[in-house]
Amino acid sequence: MNDSTAVVVSGIKPTGRVHLGNYLGMIRPVLRLAAKHESYVFVADGHALTTVEDPAQLTRLSRELTAVLLALGLDPSRTVLYRQSDLAEVFELGWILACSTPKGALNRAHAYKAAVAANRVAGRPTDEGVSAGLFTYPVLMAADILGMAGTAVPVGADQAQHLEVTRDVAVAFNHSYGPVLTVPEAVVDRDVAVIPGTDGRKMSKSYDNIIPILAPPEEMGRLVRGIVTDSRRPEEPKDPTTCALYGLYHHLATPDESRALAERYVAGGIGYGEVKALLTEALIATFAPARERYQVLIDNPAGLDAVLFEGAERAKARVRDVLERVRSARGLAV
Ligand code: ADP
Ligand code: TRP
Repeated sequence: MNDSTAVVVSGIKPTGRVHLGNYLGMIRPVLRLAAKHESYVFVADGHALTTVEDPAQLTRLSRELTAVLLALGLDPSRTVLYRQSDLAEVFELGWILACSTPKGALNRAHAYKAAVAANRVAGRPTDEGVSAGLFTYPVLMAADILGMAGTAVPVGADQAQHLEVTRDVAVAFNHSYGPVLTVPEAVVDRDVAVIPGTDGRKMSKSYDNIIPILAPPEEMGRLVRGIVTDSRRPEEPKDPTTCALYGLYHHLATPDESRALAERYVAGGIGYGEVKALLTEALIATFAPARERYQVLIDNPAGLDAVLFEGAERAKARVRDVLERVRSARGLAV
């Protein structure tokens, strides 16, 4: 994306330890774009309400995620870093946008459909355990993005559908009430697509198959050793393109290192044990500096709060401007 006028907006939920899928699918693309463009990055604690029930845990996870983003290199003097719940305006905008969102679009959203499908399989009532918040999740996401007048939204592939809802809501609103909202575009790194977890399914907090990026080296080694591979012996030639270990390694290594490893696969003579050691090393080396910075940041909660406070002030100014135009367009008090 080369548009110098782009406004980058993206958020991530504080729902657990940040893993390699989050990093490669979302955080790294966000950091790369944020280094070049005006950018707004937030901790989506409002969205996390759909899954995190314990209040103390949510506050802790929000602070930890803030520290992770900073430790990974997000520069708060360039990028506005804020916590979603500091912006009451976003939740307000969510309601107004809900009134321009066809319910059918939400019926089709993946997260809701997956919850319904799981209930059907288990023989439970269709909507059991589904909060209205989970159902309207994509509307709050639209408010996050449209409220900041974002043009480019870096997300993992699984969020692309939500971006379509955001775009449709913006187009419908503008069609009815004039050109008030900026229609954004998703930025999905097609090379990354979906990062597999240690069991071969999509890496996800929900599947207990994650590699947390800031895991201590021993844990990292143990998790990588647990990655499922086929049973080819070391001397046999192997196909790097279908191997999960190689798939992860090539996202972390330089092109030369990746090519060298691919050649060894094809030639035969390298065992999965050795590849696992290489991958563990690459993971530790990639994240060691962030692990150190994270410790310093997390030990200074007042410093984290100060970053979030300043980010919220800057973000509020922007969302207020959009909200006022939206209120006026709909005939609400301004
Ligand atoms: P999880 O599935 O672990 O709960 P989230 O839904 O909180 O992860 O995802 C946060 C961000 O990370 C999203 O932008 C999502 O697309 C991205 N992401 C999560 N898991 C993966 C994965 N396995 N591969 C690529 N991107 C991912
Ligand atoms: N729904 C996103 C996820 O699960 C998090 C998110 C909330 C988001 N609001 C957003 C991402 C706005 C991009 C833009 O990962």
